[in-house]
Amino acid sequence: MAHLFGTQVLAVPAAPVRPVIDTTIVIPTFNESSNIGPLVTRVSEAFAGRSAEIVFADDSTDDTPARITAAAGTAGLPVRMVHREGDDRVGGLAGAVTSGIAVARGDFVLVMDGDLQHPPEMAPLLRDAAQDADLAVASRYLGAGDASGLSTRHRRLVSSGSTLLAQACFPRRVGKVCTDPMTGFFCFRRSSVDLQRLQPRGFKILLEILARHQLVVREIPFAFGKRLAGESKASWRNGLAFLHQMLSLRMGRMVRFAAVGALGTALNLAVMALLVHGFGTWYVAAAVVAAELSILSNFLLQERFVFRDLRDEGHTRNRRLAHHLLFNNAEAAVRLPFLVLLVSVLHVPSVLGQGLLLALAFGARFLFASRVVYRPAVVPAVGAGVPDLVPVGELR
Ligand code: GDD
Ligand code: MN
Repeated sequence: MAHLFGTQVLAVPAAPVRPVIDTTIVIPTFNESSNIGPLVTRVSEAFAGRSAEIVFADDSTDDTPARITAAAGTAGLPVRMVHREGDDRVGGLAGAVTSGIAVARGDFVLVMDGDLQHPPEMAPLLRDAAQDADLAVASRYLGAGDASGLSTRHRRLVSSGSTLLAQACFPRRVGKVCTDPMTGFFCFRRSSVDLQRLQPRGFKILLEILARHQLVVREIPFAFGKRLAGESKASWRNGLAFLHQMLSLRMGRMVRFAAVGALGTALNLAVMALLVHGFGTWYVAAAVVAAELSILSNFLLQERFVFRDLRDEGHTRNRRLAHHLLFNNAEAAVRLPFLVLLVSVLHVPSVLGQGLLLALAFGARFLFASRVVYRPAVVPAVGAGVPDLVPVGELR
């Protein structure tokens, strides 16, 4: 670039050099061995004459990495790979995609499946659709779009059900702008998405991106094809992960703790009512049984839904359970004399008295859980799922 001052031409120093790549195509793979060859060929052909690179985000346990290396040798595009093994495979599919995005050099990042259910020929159209937007989504639920490639009727139902739920939970960020937040086929402007905000887990990386940013979205309809080879990795676990994702996107830890506590309280009161009114059990004995049951169920639920990200940061599971049992039993034991006081001296109905005391105990329990049981040894700075060091092999 040159600027003109009078008659003198001054050379302005060039901007810092960085590889100019327009699109990074991030492809998550888990045991997609026989799909790699055809995939790399078709993606390369689709992007011929464009500036693009392929980054495989691979968690495979079979020979997929070797196939990727082989395909890279003859590919028409630069191919790189982030390969994760064993415990490094944090966050499953969404975690893998995030680690691929983290090393992307393109101004745009396009994410697509590695089993050819997302037609590579459509990928450049998706990239072009993102030109005047932050994000372009290939939607199965728009116009000529089609979700029939989902293997079973039951999966189609789950997919449209979770889409509705996501749209209801995020009316502005999802409902208004996106008909298919569950799709794994989309392209976004790298500078519009803040990777640090994402807490990738499960299958739904797009939902995570949408829910944490207010984006300008374009959609194009697409028909979800059939798998070329191999089998789907979706399972009921992904359903659970999705519910957990919705919960944590909508609420903070304290609210989740309260939700778990409320469930525990409901269980406590139900058990107590059943024992007192159904079996004629003495209310003190009933309160003890009810307390033990809800203490245990609270532990299981909070391990999974409240402190999951901190579980491995501090004490071992047995240690956490011991802390939890000790504190909650001590707290319940202290609560018992108060219950007797309320019931026999103040004549408060036993279940109501129990409810009042549980509400008081809530604050103390949250403090203890977060300050003692799940106290992390070191507080992680970045959301889980992005390893500090991503081994990226330049394959060609
Ligand atoms: N790295 C990595 N790690 N890749 C994975 C993992 C994982 O744990 N699990 C699945 N994959 C890869 C697969 O190899 C495939 O390339 C892609 O992610 C999609 O996985 P499939 O197992 O083929 O999923 P699907 O066809 O049932 O699900 C599709 O529909 C969903 C919406 O209903 C995908 O498009 C999903 O992205 C989409 O969310
Ligand atoms: Mn698939």
